[in-house]
Amino acid sequence: MATFDINTTDVDVLNTFGTKAKGKTWGIGAQVAISLASASPKLLILARRDGAKISPIIDQIKQANSAVQVEFLQLDLTSHESVQKSRDAVKAITKNVDFLVNNAGVMVNEGCI
Ligand SMILES: NC(=O)c1ccc[n+]([C@@H]2O[C@H](COP(=O)([O-])OP(=O)(O)OC[C@H]3O[C@@H](n4cnc5c(N)ncnc54)[C@H](OP(=O)(O)O)[C@@H]3O)[C@@H](O)[C@H]2O)c1
Repeated sequence: MATFDINTTDVDVLNTFGTKAKGKTWGIGAQVAISLASASPKLLILARRDGAKISPIIDQIKQANSAVQVEFLQLDLTSHESVQKSRDAVKAITKNVDFLVNNAGVMVNEGCI
């Protein structure tokens, strides 16, 4: 896995995960989670709206490292209530979050707004 530090730029991250994401069915967040699994994190919490799409990602994580604990949170970032529920759910699962990947979003091309 690539090494990142204080000098890492967004381009470095996209070159590592974005390119892979473009070439596969995984988005950046899924690719990051799958890649991190081999570093044996204690816990990975995956959050998105569509729970039906999470199983293949968990399968890939387990293939990379079957010992990793994986939790799924159904989260809609456009809903304050959903964000609050997810915050409470995370608090119930773990005391610490060491690494947060904020990748949810859409790409809006110039001229679309
Ligand atoms: N891939 C690249 O090479 C690349 C390059 C430059 C910029 N970007 C930008 O990076 C971001 C992520 O790219 P990606 O390729 O990983 O996209 P992606 O495969 O579409 O992944 C986006 C993720 O965000 C989640 N999401 C979307 N809206 C959400 C919401 N309201 N609440 C919670 N989760 C939400 C989606 O899951 P659900 O639909 O299940 O919620 C999905 O898991 C985008 O903004 C994209 O424009 C990507």
